[in-house]
Amino acid sequence: MSNRFESKIVIVTGAASGIGEKTAIKFANEGAKVVIADINKEMGSIVADQIKKNNGEALFVETNVAEFISVDNMVSQTLDTFGIPDVLINNAGINVFGEPLNMPDSEWKRAFSVDLDGVWFGCKAVLPHMLKKNKGSIVNVASVHGIQIIPNCFPYPVAKHGVIGLTKALAVDYAAKGIKINSISPGYIETPIIDRFFNTKPDPIAARKEAENHQPIKRMGTTDEIANTIMFMSSDECNYMIGANIVVDGGITLRMHENEDTGAG
Ligand SMILES: NC(=O)c1ccc[n+]([C@@H]2O[C@H](COP(=O)([O-])OP(=O)(O)OC[C@H]3O[C@@H](n4cnc5c(N)ncnc54)[C@H](O)[C@@H]3O)[C@@H](O)[C@H]2O)c1
Repeated sequence: MSNRFESKIVIVTGAASGIGEKTAIKFANEGAKVVIADINKEMGSIVADQIKKNNGEALFVETNVAEFISVDNMVSQTLDTFGIPDVLINNAGINVFGEPLNMPDSEWKRAFSVDLDGVWFGCKAVLPHMLKKNKGSIVNVASVHGIQIIPNCFPYPVAKHGVIGLTKALAVDYAAKGIKINSISPGYIETPIIDRFFNTKPDPIAARKEAENHQPIKRMGTTDEIANTIMFMSSDECNYMIGANIVVDGGITLRMHENEDTGAG
């Protein structure tokens, strides 16, 4: 096993499940001290315990990324337990999908508070500490919804476009100070969030098959494939990468039409 992140301090938000869980475990396997920051206490504690059972170092901190005070408290606990974070993965996110004019204002607020405010609050809480060392890496988990629009998935794509914009703005402001900030846009990845999405469809099995077929690679991505990219982006292997958005989507955003026979432009 590689020890690329030996003694590095890594915070992963939304690490109780899916992409965040896999990413946290893989960082720990490569020597990092990992903070599992999640609103779900039960599942987050299980992930931290699993890492510790495998002789890794982990700390679970119950965190609501939608509240700055909660995020700031999580960062304080990280400083007290491990020290200044080297890496922050802003991964916590929720799907809020609807038809724009039928969407209550509360849904707009719910999406933005987690999917965009949550990313900003993570950056705002760790940056002052990273700046003391003039070194740090932040990876924000956006989505293919951050670059393209699927009808009636409002306002999730608006928030994810915002994540990519926020990443670029902060990346430019702090690049000269040794901080690299980038985002990743996963396509369809096998996780509980995607199960919940297909379960909203009249025929979840058919909807899943259709989504698989639509991808040039003809399958969903795995959490491993996203975690591997996040770790590369967090490492010193890519210190010249500033404000980039890496699309990891099996080619889905390259395809224009759902129907293979359609050639019309
Ligand atoms: N799965 C996909 O296909 C896919 C595709 C593109 C982007 N994404 C993005 O990847 C990220 C992770 O998604 P996932 O598929 O692993 O989902 P998931 O539902 O498996 O995990 C999300 C985690 O975030 C946590 N969380 C939710 N709200 C929170 C809050 N307010 N504060 C702290 N933690 C909170 C949940 O408890 C959960 O542990 C999200 O930002 C999502 O938008 C996922």
